[in-house]
Amino acid sequence: MKSVLMLFVLANTLYGIQSWDLEVELNSSYTDILNLNWYGDYGTIRRSSNLERVHFINSEIESVSKYFTNLLEKCVSLKFTNGTVKKVFIDSKLWLLTLNNTSTENVVIEPGQDYKLRALIISKSKLTKVPENINQLKHINRIDIVDNLIEHITLNDFDGLNNLYEIDLSRNRIKHVDTNGLIRFRELYNLKFSNNQLQQLDTCGWDMPSLYMLHVDHNNLTHFAVNHLRALIDISLRSNPLNCAWVQNLANSIGKRSPLTIFYMLFRGDITCEKESLDDTEMHCPTSIEHQRQQNFGLNNRLHTFESMLKTLESQIIEHQKVVNNVMKEL
Ligand SMILES: *[C@@H]1O[C@H](CO)[C@@H](O)[C@H](O)[C@H]1NC(C)=O
Ligand SMILES: *[C@@H]1O[C@H](CO)[C@@H](O)[C@H](O)[C@H]1NC(C)=O
Ligand SMILES: *[C@@H]1O[C@H](CO)[C@@H](O)[C@H](O)[C@H]1NC(C)=O
Ligand SMILES: *[C@@H]1O[C@H](CO)[C@@H](O)[C@H](O)[C@H]1NC(C)=O
Ligand SMILES: *[C@@H]1O[C@H](CO)[C@@H](O)[C@H](O)[C@H]1NC(C)=O
Repeated sequence: MKSVLMLFVLANTLYGIQSWDLEVELNSSYTDILNLNWYGDYGTIRRSSNLERVHFINSEIESVSKYFTNLLEKCVSLKFTNGTVKKVFIDSKLWLLTLNNTSTENVVIEPGQDYKLRALIISKSKLTKVPENINQLKHINRIDIVDNLIEHITLNDFDGLNNLYEIDLSRNRIKHVDTNGLIRFRELYNLKFSNNQLQQLDTCGWDMPSLYMLHVDHNNLTHFAVNHLRALIDISLRSNPLNCAWVQNLANSIGKRSPLTIFYMLFRGDITCEKESLDDTEMHCPTSIEHQRQQNFGLNNRLHTFESMLKTLESQIIEHQKVVNNVMKEL
């Protein structure tokens, strides 16, 4: 057990992953506020107006409005645990918002604001869908909506979130994960759908060059395409009615990539499978999509080259401007 944990730490280090404990990063003033009842309790909140981290425990709040968060002038990390917080308007100054066991039904994100949020963590609440406009959280690294009531997601809702490192939607009621066309997440490293109700997982539209960890244990999956997920090493499959031919294929193809994978698969153990025939093509995506992915890859590379050319040009212009300025001074 120890060696596995060590390997994981090592793998993380190799991949240059930062610590995700934002709380530690925030070297800041902090308070717990107990049993807040928003109606008539303005004073309590005002007293915390100079604090950077505020944790409300066992509050009864109908709506965490703009007015509410405006009172917490310095707050960058806001957390609610237990009690009831029905609705939350995300304040643009927050870096971290955590809701834990708060019966939250609605999280509001408004278009056109400059949101600073890095992590949105909503666990054990009552969301039935991913919050609307979630792709407005341009800086977000981590979205965990765990143990809620979500039934259906469309990955395109997260489109344009280029800093996304982790999406964790474990312990919901997800039956479908849709993708319209090809969707690219350059930095996505962890994707977790454990403990849902997936019977199929159409990964063919996924363009996720960094995807390292895919957790789909405790679903109802028989097989899905994985070969195009080139960075995938940590895959968790326990408690699915897997097809034996697929498991064998998976072990062969991903195992070649990294012995660690086999290690993980064995360690996470208890993989049972059912012997039904499987068409070999079901491991792979249709060639037309594969072709599109290659084209995308080429286009992205060209864009990067173009970007760096622009940067060089820009710095040359700045240099040039300095020279001009100096000459002007001399004159
Ligand atoms: C951050 O920590 C340092 C010492 O580690 C301390 O001197 C400083 O006051 C802290 N800043 C804040 C905002 O708490
Ligand atoms: C929330 O409630 C649970 C169960 O009553 C308790 O164990 C936990 O400590 C509470 N959390 C906080 C932060 O008080
Ligand atoms: C959730 O919060 C309620 C109080 O609002 C508490 O009774 C319950 O034990 C908490 N559950 C957990 C798992 O912390
Ligand atoms: C939520 O609270 C429970 C205890 O009530 C704790 O075990 C768990 O780690 C918390 N989750 C988050 C995301 O803070
Ligand atoms: C799992 O999928 C099979 C069909 O593949 C279906 O008959 C069964 O009801 C599903 N089980 C659950 C728990 O969703």
